[in-house]
Amino acid sequence: MNLYSYIETFGCQMNERDSEIMAQLIGDAYSPTRSLSKADVVVVNTCSIREKAEQKAFSMLGRLRKLKKKNPSMVIAVAGCVAQQEGRNIRKRMPHVDIVIGPQNLYRLPELIADVKRDNETKVKTDISPEFVIPPFLPSIKAGHPFKRFVTIMQGCNNFCTYCVVPYTRGREISRDPADIIDEITHLVQNGIREVTLIGQNVNSYGLDRKNATFPDLLRAVAGITGIERIRFTTSHPKDLSEDLMRCFAEIDALCSHIHLPVQAGSNSVLKRMNRKYTLESYLDKISKLKTFCPDIVITTDIIVGFPGETDEDFDQTMQLLETVRYHGAYSFKYSDRPQAPSCDFSDKVPEDVKSARLHLLQSRQEEITVERHNEFIGRTMPLVVEGRSKSSDGRWCGRTDTNHIVNFTGADTLQPGRTVQVVIEEACLNSLRGRLKKH
Ligand code: SAH
Ligand code: SF4
Ligand code: F3S
Repeated sequence: MNLYSYIETFGCQMNERDSEIMAQLIGDAYSPTRSLSKADVVVVNTCSIREKAEQKAFSMLGRLRKLKKKNPSMVIAVAGCVAQQEGRNIRKRMPHVDIVIGPQNLYRLPELIADVKRDNETKVKTDISPEFVIPPFLPSIKAGHPFKRFVTIMQGCNNFCTYCVVPYTRGREISRDPADIIDEITHLVQNGIREVTLIGQNVNSYGLDRKNATFPDLLRAVAGITGIERIRFTTSHPKDLSEDLMRCFAEIDALCSHIHLPVQAGSNSVLKRMNRKYTLESYLDKISKLKTFCPDIVITTDIIVGFPGETDEDFDQTMQLLETVRYHGAYSFKYSDRPQAPSCDFSDKVPEDVKSARLHLLQSRQEEITVERHNEFIGRTMPLVVEGRSKSSDGRWCGRTDTNHIVNFTGADTLQPGRTVQVVIEEACLNSLRGRLKKH
C-alpha cells in the first residue's frame, strides 16, 4: 500500500531547505502528495518571526484537527521555529499534534514517526546545543528545482537584535564544514544545477565560529567549482559586510550583482535600541564603498516600522533613508512582540493605527522608488536565465537577471528553461520587467 506525506512550509529559505531535507528523509516511505486528505504524515514547518507568521501556522494546525478526526492514524508533526519555541506546550492548544521537532533535530524525523506509530504517544525533540554539527547530506536531484537550489551554509544567529526570536529558536551560529558545502554544491553542479543561493540568517558571519573558513573564502571556493554559473547569498548583516566581501563582487564573475542588506530603521536611536550594532552613517559608508567595487549592484532591504519608542522624527529618518539609498526593493513590516525578545518589555509601544499609517506611507513611497529604479533598466540589454513560460499566459517567457529581477519577454518557442539569453528591456512594472529576446 502506498503511503503519502504532505509538507507545508512557512517562513524563510532556511525553512524551505529544511522541508526539502525532511521530504527526502521520509521520501522512500512516504511519497509526496498535495492532497491533505490522502496524507499519512503531515509536517507543518513553521515560522515565528512575526505574530502573523505564527498565527498562520496555528491556523493550519487547527484545520488539521478535523482531518485527524476522520483519519486517526494520520501523523501530524510540527517543525520549525514555532515548534522550537513552544515545545510540549503546543499540545495544550493542539492536542492532535503527534511530533514537535525543532530545527536542529529535523534529521530525526523518520525515527520519530516510527516512535509515534509504535508508542502511540506524542514525541517532542527540541533540544538544542552549540556543539551541534550540521551533518553532510547530499540533496536529491529528482525532487526540487531543475537548475537552481538553496544550500544552507550556517544555522542560528548570535546577534540578538532586541526584537528578534531567531537566536532563541535557531540557537547560536553554527557554520557548516566548508568541505561539506563544497561537496554538496559539486554534487548539485555535476547533476545539472548551475545556480546556488547560500543561505543562513547571517551568512556573512560564516566561519567566525571556525578556524578554517571565512565567508569570502567560501565564495571563492564555490566559484572555483567547474560548472557553477551563478552564486547568490542571503541574508547579510551590515556589520559583517567586510571590504574582502565587497571585493568579491568585483572579482567573482559568478557572484550575482545583488545584495539584500536589511537596515531595519533610519534612526540611530532606534538602531541602538534594536541592538543592530551599526549607525546610519556607518551603514551608508558601507554602501558607498560597496558601490566602488560594484557600481551597478542592486540593493534591497528589510525595514521594521513602529519599533517601541519610534517617534515621528525617527520614522521621518527612515523615510529619508529611502530617498538616500533608493533601494530597488524593500520588505517592510509592522513591529510585533515576539516571545523572549527583550523589546517586549520596552516602554512606549507604538499604537497599532500609527504603525499601520507609517507602514502605508513607507510602502507607497518605496513602491514609487522601485518603479523608478526599474525604469532605469529600459533600453538596456540584460542577460537572464530562462525559468519557463510566464504566468501571464500571453505566450511570453519568464527569466531572472543576475540582479534578481523577473523579466517577462517575447521570444521563440524553441527556448529552453535554464538557458542564458540576452533580453532588451522595454517596460518596467512594480514586480517585474518586460522585454524582448535579442539573440540566442
Ligand atoms: N537575519 C536577517 C533577517 C531576519 S528575519 C537580518 O538580520 O537582517 C527577516 C525580517 O523580519 C527582519 O529583517 C526584520 O525586518 C523582520 N522582523 C524580525 N523580527 C520582527 C518583529 N518582531 N516584528 C516585525 N518584524 C520583524
Ligand atoms: Fe534576528 Fe538580528 Fe539575527 Fe537577523 S541578525 S536573525 S534580525 S537576531
Ligand atoms: Fe521564521 Fe525561523 Fe526562518 S522564525 S524566518 S523560520 S529562522
